Amino acid sequence: MNVAGRTALVTGASGGLGQAIARALAAAGAKLVLSGRRADVLEGLAAEIGATVAPADLSDPGSVRALAAAHAGTDILVANAGLPASGRLESFTEEQIDRALQVNLRAPMMLAHALAPAMVARGSGHIVFMSSLSGKAPAAGSSVYSATKFGLRGFAGALRAELHGSGVGVSAIFPGFIRDAGMFEDAGVTLPRGTGTKSPEQVSTATLRAIERNRGEIDVAPLALKLGATLSGIAPELAATVTRKAGGDAIAAQFEAGQRDKR
Ligand SMILES: NC(=O)c1ccc[n+]([C@@H]2O[C@H](COP(=O)([O-])OP(=O)(O)OC[C@H]3O[C@@H](n4cnc5c(N)ncnc54)[C@H](OP(=O)(O)O)[C@@H]3O)[C@@H](O)[C@H]2O)c1
Repeated sequence: MNVAGRTALVTGASGGLGQAIARALAAAGAKLVLSGRRADVLEGLAAEIGATVAPADLSDPGSVRALAAAHAGTDILVANAGLPASGRLESFTEEQIDRALQVNLRAPMMLAHALAPAMVARGSGHIVFMSSLSGKAPAAGSSVYSATKFGLRGFAGALRAELHGSGVGVSAIFPGFIRDAGMFEDAGVTLPRGTGTKSPEQVSTATLRAIERNRGEIDVAPLALKLGATLSGIAPELAATVTRKAGGDAIAAQFEAGQRDKR
């Protein structure tokens, strides 16, 4: 799909990766609608790239419905908003678990549910879901986050199969650790030496490629992390042992401390 002249609704557009994605889509000629809770941040970006803003709290099902209804003609949905939801399960309240499920999984599903039928009727459209390598490889301290990101992967793959031949593409993106901006950068976590990172621009380039070439899944991570995720898929117990021995629990504790305020 050529994005020039198409309308693109980007959720999480006030965040690190969402801003990069919005800039890339705007540079490619798309007409952007930027969503997030922080209207001031959305307005600043909208003024820079020439977009409209649609503030919404995606933890509220009514706001999700209203966002979709107000943008029913959307050609491209980038369901990117997400909470880090890091930490051991017992450290979460029930309300925090519900919010992570609402924002990270239910809202993307309901936006797709609301917007896809019109795309199918027009015979063209694209939906991108922002998952994570945590949606392919589970680790201590990411039980809630991984539940949402594995869920997104399954939803995206199945929806892609359902819409095959309709002219509507579906993609899932799997970033590893992204430097310079976004929830990993904000957490201030020190990774083990040699663990590579990628930039927000590499995520936005992958997102654009997913839409233009209708790619099902794209990882945005160094080769070693991609191989780790692949190993986790084919030999989960071995991968879990490797992660534990590499100090996974200590890293998880850093994420929990650095991201607790985003629950
Ligand atoms: N950064 C990474 O290393 C990394 C790696 C793998 C996957 N990801 C995924 O990439 C996506 C973007 O993350 P990021 O790094 O850009 O994080 P971020 O900077 O923390 O941004 C998160 C975005 O989600 C929005 N959001 C959070 N709660 C919301 C709510 N209740 N209603 C509406 N919007 C809400 C935020 O908007 P407001 O604050 O304005 O509400 C913000 O725009 C997420 O799905 C994340 O899981 C990131």
